[in-house]
Parts: sequence; structure tokens; C-alpha cells
Amino acid sequence: MKRAKISVIGSGNIGATTAYLCALKGLGDVVLLDIIEGIPEGKGLDIFESLPVEGIDCRVAGTNSYADTEGSDVVVITAGVARKPGMSRDDLIHINKTIITDITGQVMTYSPDCILIVVTNPLDVMVTLAHRLSGLPGHKVIGMAGVLDSARFRCFIADELGVSVESVSALVLGGHGDTMVPMVRLANVGGIPLETLISAERLEAIVRRTRDGGAEIVNYLKTGSAYYAPASSIVEMVEAIVKDRKKVLPCAAYLQGEYGVKDLFIGVPVKLGAGGVEEIYEISLNKKEKEAFTKTVEQVRALVKKV
Ligand code: APR
Repeated sequence: MKRAKISVIGSGNIGATTAYLCALKGLGDVVLLDIIEGIPEGKGLDIFESLPVEGIDCRVAGTNSYADTEGSDVVVITAGVARKPGMSRDDLIHINKTIITDITGQVMTYSPDCILIVVTNPLDVMVTLAHRLSGLPGHKVIGMAGVLDSARFRCFIADELGVSVESVSALVLGGHGDTMVPMVRLANVGGIPLETLISAERLEAIVRRTRDGGAEIVNYLKTGSAYYAPASSIVEMVEAIVKDRKKVLPCAAYLQGEYGVKDLFIGVPVKLGAGGVEEIYEISLNKKEKEAFTKTVEQVRALVKKV
């Protein structure tokens, strides 16, 4: 069977970690691309040379040329500027808009049938932009944010209760920013509703920490933003696609009437498989959740208008 071809645009913290994890999991041949000469080549070769030790047979190569990404099945865009302490993701909008515009055109020239995963922040705006510029159908363009936000939520819940992370099922809806909607009501631990296990006060603190999860890391790192958990989240999505696993994951998906929202990318649960977003699941929200969801939609719409 032919190996999948995965191209990762941007060989910085998230891009290089994503390429490494894709290779370690043997998901396919990986091309790592960056605008800076030498960095993708060096990192790509270094990853490639780790594979005999890991016992993995796939090719990894770094490049500055989009021609090397030709015929990719999945393209992950991580290129762009990351935020520094005191910045919101939205502060990156203008600089990253220029970068995404340049990259999307080049990617589409060589991989017109790819599935595009966008990671660059502000996520919901950049994925919308990439969709419009790519000409790809909505189900082939996906933003990575919900898997990461939900991973943070699950991590804090598991830590609070001292249980395995695998026992915690929880999801975060909405935009990748301060208005995201961690779905406390639906979270469960081994099937037991979370709200019966943790006090309302502690739950509120966990929700707050989830919303501020990105900033918490930025404040420690000072020179950049999170990359291990983002890369793991991207790779879960890539794996679902290249192995056609039909995983149900929260992703920024193109809504065309679902949740009463039209022509907007926003985080909702989707079925991810070889076709990209194969189904969008509509959860019925209670009044409070609806209000929070409406707020996040309005915030994303306002940001999209800026580009
Ligand atoms: N084409 C290709 N690569 C580019 C371009 C471009 N036009 N512009 C910038 N890059 C590359 C940079 O050279 C750098 O190697 O993107 C890489 C970004 O890497 P980091 O600065 O380490 O940022 P990272 O932590 O990987 O985050 C990337 O993802 O989560 C978001 O907010 C984050 O927008 C940021 C992006």
C-alpha cells in the first residue's frame, strides 16, 4: 500500500515536533518546509536519522521548495508568528494573514487535492482565510484547536481526580480564544458525570485554567507559545485522516447552517476520516451553553471581518 505524504509548513517549534511525531508513528512520508534556509533541511534530516533507532520505515526531508510538497495527502500549516507574554492570539492577525496568504497559494499549486489542517493563530480566522484562498471544499479544510483545548481540559480533570487521562472524556467547543466553551455538562469520567465528582467551585477553576491554558505556557516560556500539546493534537488529527479512523474530535469545521451558523469555521465535534470532515455532530445545547456558543461565534465573526 502506498504511504501517505504529509507536508508540514513551518519548521519551528510546532512544525518540527509535528513532523517528528508523524514520523515516530509511521504515519507516512513527511516533508518539512520553512522559509528559512537550512532549518527544515537540518531538522528533517535529524528526524530521518532517528528512524533506524525507532524501527520506522518512512522518509523525512526538509526543504524550502514547495515543489517538494507535490501530491501531499495532508498539509499542515504551522508557519507564522507565535505570541509572546501579554499578547492575545488575536494580536497576530495581520502578520499571520500575510503568511497564510502566501503559503496557501503555494500549497494549492502542488497539492490541489490535499486535506489542509491549519494551526496558525488566530486559528479560527486563519482557517477561514486558508479555506477561501484554497478553493477547497469546506470538508477538506480543518482547524486544529478543539483537540488541544479539550486535551488541556481532560488533563486538568484527570489531575484533579487522580485518575487516568484515558478515563476522562470531555470536549471544548467554539473559538480558540477566551470565549471557548468547555462543555462541563457532557464531561464524564468512566461514564460518570463530571459534575457529580467535582465541586462547582473547583470545576469553575478548571474551566478557567483551560481557557487560559495557552497563556499559562506563554508566561513560562516568554519567547514563544506551547508546542508539545499542539503537535500531539495535530498528529491525532493527521492519524485519523491517513488511517481513515473516523475519530470523533472537536475541530474548527466549516459550518453551513449547523448550530444556526453559516459560512464560519468554529470548533464543533466532527467525524474525521480519509475524506476530512465526514460528518458534523450537532449537540443540543442548554440555555447557558447556547449563550456562550453565540458569544464565541460573534467574537470569531468580528475577527474574521478584520481580514
Ligand atoms: N513560509 C514558511 N514558513 C514560515 C513563513 C512563511 N511565509 N513565515 C514564517 N515561517 C516559519 C518561521 O520561519 C518559523 O520557523 O514559521 C515557523 C514558526 O515557528 P515558531 O516561531 O517556532 O512558532 P510555533 O510555536 O511553531 O507556532 C506557529 O502556530 O499555534 C500557532 O500561535 C502559533 O501562529 C503560531 C504558529
